[in-house]
Amino acid sequence: MSEAVQRFEAGLADVEGAYQGALGAANSETELREANAKIVGPQGALTQLMKLMRDLPGDRRKEFGQLANALKGKVTALFDDRLAAIARAQREAELTGPALDVTMPARWSREGRLHPITRVKHELLDIFASLGFEVAEGPEADTHENCFDKLGFPPDHPATDMQDTFFLTHTERGDDITTLLRTHTSTVQIREMGRRPAPLAVVSPGVVYRRDDDATHSPMFHQIEGFLVDEGVSFADLKGVLGVFVERLFGADVEMRFRASYFPFVEPGAEVDVRRPGGKWMEILGCGMIHPTVLENVGYDPKKVSGFAFGLGIDRIAMVKYAIPNIKLLFENDQRFLQSL
Ligand code: DAH
Repeated sequence: MSEAVQRFEAGLADVEGAYQGALGAANSETELREANAKIVGPQGALTQLMKLMRDLPGDRRKEFGQLANALKGKVTALFDDRLAAIARAQREAELTGPALDVTMPARWSREGRLHPITRVKHELLDIFASLGFEVAEGPEADTHENCFDKLGFPPDHPATDMQDTFFLTHTERGDDITTLLRTHTSTVQIREMGRRPAPLAVVSPGVVYRRDDDATHSPMFHQIEGFLVDEGVSFADLKGVLGVFVERLFGADVEMRFRASYFPFVEPGAEVDVRRPGGKWMEILGCGMIHPTVLENVGYDPKKVSGFAFGLGIDRIAMVKYAIPNIKLLFENDQRFLQSL
């Protein structure tokens, strides 16, 4: 008898002797499928054996083929039986086991909602949009030029100390490019005015970065920049726009005042404070008439057009609006705090 025939016979006998035990021992569908795969799966014993058929002498091939197929048929039939039995047992266990308690409270899923800063941002943008301002955004990493130089900050001016920030340097085609995390959204003035002619009226929300870090300052916070340029724009227009803004945001009984202040990119410059009846003055924004040098830097003719600009802190307005004592609360994402607003 050829060696191949012996191997084949022994192989068939092995499977024949083991399959009932293997399938019978499986107690779950997964176990059953694993046991079945070890016999008739692609790597299974019987499958491997059948690959050896071509080594058999031609006159025995048919006979062994029939034996192997018959065995495979028995394995499959037992597998089907066992699968059905396992499913029945499972169903039985469900029916006789403890009843499903339909009165048990469902797992509670909380409804998500917008963060207070996002809500305030939308509210502020809605007001300016209703006054005809369009919305533009700028990148958080920008150049020193857009952040300081073109806005008229003299080199090493003390005002840049106040806005000490994070510098990012990368190499582009062999050149070192220095960008920084913008310290204010005023960068967008340069970007937007630089790429299109007046007239324009734009508001630009975004994240800004500074070294400050205390109860009312965070190294990362949010601003909205606004600017409008046209022929004959005056400080009266600025007062008109901000007056409407404050009234819509805080209500008609809130007082506002302009206090002279300095920012290199405006002349004259001012800060705006608001006061609730009986309350204290609170600063909410900086503003002024866009400096002629800034207009020149973006390619406008200051003899033909003029404009105003303002910048406000969204976080600060959220703090005033919701009486939040510490700015950090806005960034800790403590659900209990956020739900309370
Ligand atoms: N960029 C200023 C800051 O972050 C705020 C500001 C002041 C913006 C006056 C303006 C402005 O547009 O006119 O402190």
